[in-house]
Amino acid sequence: MESYIFREATKLDVETIYQILVEDICQEDDTWDQVMISKIEFKELCFGSDRSLYPIVVEYATVGGTNAIDKAIVGCVMFTVITDYLHGKQIYIQGLAVKHEHRKKAVGTKLVETAMEFGQKLGCKSAFVLIERANSASMNVFKKFNGEVIWENYSMVHCKNIGNIM
Ligand SMILES: CC(C)(COP(=O)(O)OP(=O)(O)OC[C@H]1O[C@@H](n2cnc3c(N)ncnc32)[C@H](O)[C@@H]1OP(=O)(O)O)[C@@H](O)C(=O)NCCC(=O)NCCS
Repeated sequence: MESYIFREATKLDVETIYQILVEDICQEDDTWDQVMISKIEFKELCFGSDRSLYPIVVEYATVGGTNAIDKAIVGCVMFTVITDYLHGKQIYIQGLAVKHEHRKKAVGTKLVETAMEFGQKLGCKSAFVLIERANSASMNVFKKFNGEVIWENYSMVHCKNIGNIM
């Protein structure tokens, strides 16, 4: 018997989430930005006193011959809560990733749904995500939630070190 369990991550999951994002996804696909923060910083953002990142994981559970349950994390997603004057308080979804062997089984969709439910509990009414134009898998996930492209003509600009301006 096998099943997927979707849940909020705990501190103990940080290592695995970081590994999925840094080792599995960034290395497989060079269109993904490299993760620029350390594992310690990542843990602080997720579970520290000034918490701003909310990670969700999915576990793949199988029952063995001795009825022992084997569980392994096979995907993740996270979000931060942001506010803008156009949309109010919303979740900004990031780091959606499902290990290869578990793709196309609705796991990515359910991860996003879980993040949205969690975001609603925090008072958010909408969600947004940045998707690389050619990433049809991700586009197809968000279409399921009536996702519409709103920034087709904009460029995302990143100022790497705001302490060193001028
Ligand atoms: C994007 C990703 C998370 C999707 O996960 P998944 O578990 O395979 O997604 P789902 O099974 O929920 O699929 C949702 C829809 O997308 C479609 N889809 C999945 N993979 C696809 C692909 N490679 N190409 C086109 N459509 C795809 C599915 O068919 C499904 O649509 P359907 O129900 O109409 O058939 C996964 O491909 C992944 O980890 N990619 C690498 C990381 C990444 O790009 N993350 C997104 C960053 S914004």
